[in-house]
Amino acid sequence: MNQIDYTVSGNLAVITMKNPPVNGLGYELRRSICDGVQKAISDPSIRAIVLTGGGRAFSGGADIREFNTPKAVAEPTLLSVIRLIESSPKPVIAAVHSVAMGGGLELAMGCHYRVASPGAQIALPEVKLGVLPGAGGTQRLPRLVGLEMGLNMIVSGQTVLSERLAATRLFDQIVEGDLVTAAKAFARKAVDEGKGLPRVRDIRIEHPDAQALLQFARNTVGLVARNFPAPMKCIEAVAAAVDKPFDEAMRFERALFLELVQTPESKALRHAFFGERAASKIPDIPEDTPLREIRSAAVIGAGTMGGGIAMNFANAGIPVIVLEAKADALDKGIATIRANYENTAKKGRISPEDVATRMGLIRQTLSYDDIASADIVIEAVFEDMAVKEQVFRKLDQIMKPGAILATNTSTLNVDRIAAFTSRPQDVIGTHFFSPANVMKLLEVVRGAKTAKDVLATTMQLAKKLRKTGVVSGVCDGFIGNRMVEQYIRQAGFMLEEGALPQQVDRAIEKFGFAMGPFRMSDLAGNDVGWYIRKRRYQEQPDMKYPRIADLICEKGRFGQKTGAGFYRYETGRRDAMADPVVEQMIVDHRASIGLKPRKLSDDEIVHRLVFALVNEGAKILEEGIALRASDIDMVYLTGYGFPVHRGGPMLYADLYGLYNVAARMNEFARNPHGDPGFWTPAPLLARLVETGKGFNG
Ligand SMILES: NC(=O)c1ccc[n+]([C@@H]2O[C@H](COP(=O)([O-])OP(=O)(O)OC[C@H]3O[C@@H](n4cnc5c(N)ncnc54)[C@H](O)[C@@H]3O)[C@@H](O)[C@H]2O)c1
Repeated sequence: MNQIDYTVSGNLAVITMKNPPVNGLGYELRRSICDGVQKAISDPSIRAIVLTGGGRAFSGGADIREFNTPKAVAEPTLLSVIRLIESSPKPVIAAVHSVAMGGGLELAMGCHYRVASPGAQIALPEVKLGVLPGAGGTQRLPRLVGLEMGLNMIVSGQTVLSERLAATRLFDQIVEGDLVTAAKAFARKAVDEGKGLPRVRDIRIEHPDAQALLQFARNTVGLVARNFPAPMKCIEAVAAAVDKPFDEAMRFERALFLELVQTPESKALRHAFFGERAASKIPDIPEDTPLREIRSAAVIGAGTMGGGIAMNFANAGIPVIVLEAKADALDKGIATIRANYENTAKKGRISPEDVATRMGLIRQTLSYDDIASADIVIEAVFEDMAVKEQVFRKLDQIMKPGAILATNTSTLNVDRIAAFTSRPQDVIGTHFFSPANVMKLLEVVRGAKTAKDVLATTMQLAKKLRKTGVVSGVCDGFIGNRMVEQYIRQAGFMLEEGALPQQVDRAIEKFGFAMGPFRMSDLAGNDVGWYIRKRRYQEQPDMKYPRIADLICEKGRFGQKTGAGFYRYETGRRDAMADPVVEQMIVDHRASIGLKPRKLSDDEIVHRLVFALVNEGAKILEEGIALRASDIDMVYLTGYGFPVHRGGPMLYADLYGLYNVAARMNEFARNPHGDPGFWTPAPLLARLVETGKGFNG
């Protein structure tokens, strides 16, 4: 299929790439470019070639739809396209606008000249996917923009606007007005003046002390990118641009690229990149489902969550009205929001005008009449079914027809809440995470009767609020908290068996978690889990629970807010300090249940915690609570501080090998104390082991 427009203008050929949305350099486009260039070369009336992109980009780089397919590596590869262009006997002029990223920028750098519009986004972002530019980017960019700028751009992957690069050799001209007209004028002049066929590969990198700069980069990057190999390899590839002949350095770049593609870190980053996109796709809901319009919102409850949720709307420019039961709670809630914004402004992250604009978008009320016309209402009142019932019965009476009625409940049954209304099709769960104005995750809970357009609209809203929306079915704890309960249970068993909170936390933090289970619990408030456990003891009397968390709560040690929990805290400080009182409590408890402590290795701690997530995740997947394994990983990456370089629990399990995962679970099951029944590999996991597959295919 032809993916270029080829037009002739006097003695010039203009090749316009045509692969929407961003002219991704897929197989068809690469072939089409080659065909176009060959045609121009063999046409004696043509003296120069202008290469540009149609639509919204020059080129956004590799076509992500082609990733992991044979087409991605089929000839002509991008390297071959660039080789053809660079060796063309007729000058090729890239006309760059809007976006030239990754392979798109490498393509432009393979041309003899480049003319650009201002405002074009220029980047080599490959490092963000754990790889490096593999078609000469690390060799050509430093030659064109200088060693320091080139290094910075490649190691960080950051975007730079074309006008900021105007003084470099990357662009021969930055032009206002019609780009292709200007590029054609440039091409004619180049031909008329016999400017020749300059090749970027022939430029020497000039720098007064290249080796010192490279060493400085190695030292700095070594400190900040410990979990990721790609940034350091980027430096090595750029160093080769300084030290080695071009062709040898190109082979070196290629070798590093192929090495990086195979690393678990790159697999994890690519998994998260695609996982984010996949999460917004719902198999039984077509992408063109008409959406309901969200022009205004209401939030019920101005507590911890309600305030943060209201801020999300204001940040997105959507007017929001906050309703409270009592005036003092309302005042306090709004004051907290203002203080939050003012703090952010003090840190320079938003301007004082932003504070005013956002506060201007937040109204407050004590009366339901004022919220009736909102397009969506999110309830964030106490976690108590009776209170939820009262609120939803009221919402059913007063909200305009078609309004979306959302609940932020973290544990209650969304279908039961929907049943309090005469319009369960309009009811949905929006489970924000604390602090709601900061955390990226939004679990969108699809009730049995939730209408498709309500779900699609809420997922779209998640994007507007700059959240990662992940669909969850109705179950206790939804995806994230249902899994974390098993993780916390294992953490508790390990205290009984011989570990201390600080040892468990340190082991999993070394694995890469932002915070171990006990520090996390102290931060969230130990009473939250205690409240849920008390309910569990009634509902599931057979489920085995470790007891130390209850003993901690019985002493009023609710965590940071009470100055003590699994750790102790000094007034005004958040550092978790090991507490001999807790150690003694644990020792006494072990004695009271007759358990002789043993030493647990960090490896056992990490894998009991992570595989507890995995086994419950497998059940969640099989039950259809999560649509796909990568959705579970997105929940953990964006809401639970799971290390990004490991890609989430399900990908970690895949890379560990599910056969090995099941073997470890069977080993854990032999420990009579860690709830052996739990460790029977979930049926889905067992089946995948049988067939040699992974959760992610
Ligand atoms: N705190 C968290 O980390 C977290 C995380 C996710 C979800 N949630 C859920 O969010 C909801 C709110 O939790 P929170 O932590 O913000 O609680 P909170 O106690 O901080 O706030 C609840 C607010 O609701 C108000 N309220 C109570 N009844 C009301 C009524 N009938 N009408 C209007 N306002 C009323 C209260 O005055 C209070 O300000 C709960 O369902 C909770 O499970 C909490």
